[in-house]
Amino acid sequence: MTSFQPTPDDRFCFGLWTVGWQERDQFGEATRAPLDPVRTVHRLAELGAWGVTFHDDDLLAVERNRDAAIAAFRKALDETGLVVPAATTDLFKHPVFKDGAFTSNDRDVRRHAIRKVMRNLDLAAELGAKTYVFWGGREGAESDAAKDVRVALERFREAIDYLAGYVKEQNYKMRFALEPKPNEPRGDILLPTIGHALGFISTLEHHDMVGLNPEVGHEQMAGLNFVHGIAQALWQDKLFHIDLNGQHGPRYDQDLVFGHGDTKSAFFLVDLLESSGWDGPRHFDYKPGRTEDAEDVWVSAEANMRTYLILRERARAFRADPEVQEAMRACRIDELAVPTVAADESHASLREEEFDVEAARDRGYHYSRLNQLAVEHMLGSR
Ligand code: GCO
Ligand code: MN
Ligand code: MN
Repeated sequence: MTSFQPTPDDRFCFGLWTVGWQERDQFGEATRAPLDPVRTVHRLAELGAWGVTFHDDDLLAVERNRDAAIAAFRKALDETGLVVPAATTDLFKHPVFKDGAFTSNDRDVRRHAIRKVMRNLDLAAELGAKTYVFWGGREGAESDAAKDVRVALERFREAIDYLAGYVKEQNYKMRFALEPKPNEPRGDILLPTIGHALGFISTLEHHDMVGLNPEVGHEQMAGLNFVHGIAQALWQDKLFHIDLNGQHGPRYDQDLVFGHGDTKSAFFLVDLLESSGWDGPRHFDYKPGRTEDAEDVWVSAEANMRTYLILRERARAFRADPEVQEAMRACRIDELAVPTVAADESHASLREEEFDVEAARDRGYHYSRLNQLAVEHMLGSR
């Protein structure tokens, strides 16, 4: 029986803000004390994590002096060997961003937001981050009168291109990852899904260095299939980072432990990430739960990694199962990979081909057996 003990080879990482989340919400005060990032680095390392990510302001959770906080964070990283694969900027907590950061109607706020990002890009580069995440939590509106979205997207594009220019000018080895979300905290957030973000990226001057950081729960809040979204991001070579967590469909952003929402979707997500050979960080963006105490936090952190490892083993067994392979052949899954049109085939040739519509109509695809095999592997009964 596998131990499902995480090791740095699994490349699991957590945002400081996840285990450090004090669980303040709009209906109640925090249920946990601030968590020192130094403690987080050491506890995550003890649990077998590989890396840690952060917002600029996360580092000041306890030590308010920025230089001292950075020095302590660095020291903990050196002592544990944890790496910093990505970083980001808090452009949503401070009230100054109440109408957005890059897309606030207030130009001074937009300029302040860009300055705030540039300062943290410098620190992220110093710490070796290869990816910089942009989640535009306040970029949006509650009424269609408030924002001409065409103009807001122009400001968003301007900011991303200007900051990408800064990274290139500084010669930082870093790429940008946009994180879509449909709503919350704004009534409607700009770039709400993977699709919107991909379309936006195609308009950028520096589109080559801009990709995605999709989050499980965010697509599922919009009622979308996250595995399909990740498949398209992979197909377009734009999966630069990922936020793994759990969600029970369209409702507020639950940020559950990975796999604790739609577990079947999580199984197929792990199957896709692992079988595609994607080598990005397995990054968790979750919240331990308002009910949890300071020690429960670490139980929930470990739960993310254990669930991923269990699903990874189940997905491998699924693909290795001869019955599954035979069922996939019966579904003609391999035939989808055959180009529809032969190399250099003329239009006339394809048009003249004979086709028995009734015979094709009556052919079954036999997915029922394959689906049951997948569920039985996911449940660990095979
Ligand atoms: C959310 C988002 C954030 C971002 C984080 C990094 O719904 O609050 O998922 O957790 O991922 O701010 O940009
Ligand atoms: Mn989220
Ligand atoms: Mn996220």
